[in-house]
Amino acid sequence: MARIFITGSAGGLGLNAARALMQQGHEVVLHARNEFRLADAGEVRDQAVGTVAGNLADLDETVRVAEQAGKYGPFDAVIHNAGVYSGSGVLAVNTVAPYVLTALMAPPRRIVYISSGMHRSGTPDLQGMNWRDAARRPGAYSDSKLYVTALAAAMANRWPDVESNAVDPGWVPTRMGGRGAPDDLELGHVTQVWLATRSGGSRESGGYWFHEKRREPHPAVNDAAFQAELLGALERHTGIGLP
Ligand SMILES: NC(=O)c1ccc[n+]([C@@H]2O[C@H](COP(=O)([O-])OP(=O)(O)OC[C@H]3O[C@@H](n4cnc5c(N)ncnc54)[C@H](OP(=O)(O)O)[C@@H]3O)[C@@H](O)[C@H]2O)c1
Repeated sequence: MARIFITGSAGGLGLNAARALMQQGHEVVLHARNEFRLADAGEVRDQAVGTVAGNLADLDETVRVAEQAGKYGPFDAVIHNAGVYSGSGVLAVNTVAPYVLTALMAPPRRIVYISSGMHRSGTPDLQGMNWRDAARRPGAYSDSKLYVTALAAAMANRWPDVESNAVDPGWVPTRMGGRGAPDDLELGHVTQVWLATRSGGSRESGGYWFHEKRREPHPAVNDAAFQAELLGALERHTGIGLP
């Protein structure tokens, strides 16, 4: 049995992952932006071993999320699932929050960062980056997913004892994906659940995965110079360094 913390797990793919993990007998700590959203998790909330609330668009609240989650640790795995597609918080929620939680929480055995196929159209240009307000940045979602995919690869290099991977869940019909999304919702959480709990076989780290298969990510993801630039920019922005 593993203990797993999932951000943004009161709805969508995070909730589906939490439910699947619980059905497999694992312990799950849920997270939502506030207590009202946690209530939306219904019976999954009742079965969780813990709950954590906090707005991941806000740096101070994200630090408190790390502190609250830490009380339920140590974790076998953390799934950085919370995400937004548009608005000022795209970079804060999709990239900065996973970085801060990674830096402040005790390293789990496995970390899964939820990416997107759209990361391939991201641009590895961090010049003049406004991490706080992405509202006027064209392509901010793709950029945020490129950065979080590079973060997954960077953590694999930095922490060789931790399996750190990124997952493209497919374009699936959640609130974010929309009703017309063409991919299978039932498969949308399967790869992150598998990476968070798999036993036996190889312990691959630093991968970008789609439906349990490794895929080639954007070339910047495995560029050591870009990884270092990204980690440096995130440390300067947050004032929080990786241990
Ligand atoms: N659906 C797709 O087709 C697709 C494709 C590629 C990648 N993804 C990725 O998959 C992940 C899950 O997305 P989804 O499809 O399940 O979308 P979703 O249904 O919109 O769920 C997103 C989750 O993130 C939470 N969240 C957003 N902003 C937050 C904030 N500021 N603080 C705390 N929590 C916040 C949401 O909470 P609230 O409900 O309170 O907003 C919600 O629980 C995301 O990282 C997304 O980028 C999705």
